[in-house]
Amino acid sequence: MLTDKSEWKGVSITSVSQFARSGVDLVMRKAETMREAKIREDLKGKVLGLLFYEPSTRTRCSFEAAMQRLGGTTVLVTQDSSIKKGESLEDTIKMLMCYCDGVVLRHPEPGASQRASQLGPIINAGDGIGEHPTQALLDVYTLSREMALEGKTIALIGDLKHGRTTHSLAKLLALYDVKLLYVAPDKLKMPDLGVAHEECSLEEAVEVADALYVTRIQKERFASVEEYDALKGSYKINPDLMTKAKSTCVVLHPLPRNDEIDPAFDSDPRAAYFRQAQNGMYVRMALLSLFF
Ligand code: NCD
Repeated sequence: MLTDKSEWKGVSITSVSQFARSGVDLVMRKAETMREAKIREDLKGKVLGLLFYEPSTRTRCSFEAAMQRLGGTTVLVTQDSSIKKGESLEDTIKMLMCYCDGVVLRHPEPGASQRASQLGPIINAGDGIGEHPTQALLDVYTLSREMALEGKTIALIGDLKHGRTTHSLAKLLALYDVKLLYVAPDKLKMPDLGVAHEECSLEEAVEVADALYVTRIQKERFASVEEYDALKGSYKINPDLMTKAKSTCVVLHPLPRNDEIDPAFDSDPRAAYFRQAQNGMYVRMALLSLFF
């Protein structure tokens, strides 16, 4: 378990199950100091590998920016590498570990980062429909900056079956005194995570929740386009619906969005998703300074 007393250095982060509440609080406090810092030299000379088998904008760029802001550097490997020539995950990781002090990995298979962590220090940046632990940390950081989290009702909305961000977030929120609501189309329900929750409709959630965590339908996880098309557009947050929500109800989204949040809502002060994306950089700075 990672606590505020643990040695975090070189410890792979593959699942939120590794975090004790005091460990999460430590990351949150550190993220706050990173927000205040201008330029730091903490990680001067350190090199972080970024190995991305799946597309990414925020996760990749915020890890990269975080490393640069801490004085370190990054090496990026995407599909456009010897992966194309059939090199295995194991061999690719072994190579990167020759050049880097740790690797951030995004991969389509659940458990890939656990496998990779046998070969060196790994940070899971999304393993298929498995987990996305650093996203959950930045989500909790955002929620706690937007409100006093204890006692609140948080609704997780959308593709809870395939959404790794919601899997990690639900488990991490279990460390807090919050009520969780799951809102998902029948075919996209949350797998059993052993986390206390209630299921409800979007309308019910909007009326009672203190935060809506909206996610996109994960098109790339469907066996056929027809299956995706049948579910596409089945829920949407827009200014009209949000008139029924609390005046303090914040809306989060890990992004990218498709059509599940109307851009017309972006100018509403309750739209927290761009603040959330920026928070990601501070949380990753905090994590990297602990990791190195
Ligand atoms: C998410 C992901 O990759 O799981 N994006 C992110 O990291 N912010 C969400 C998504 O792709 O829908």
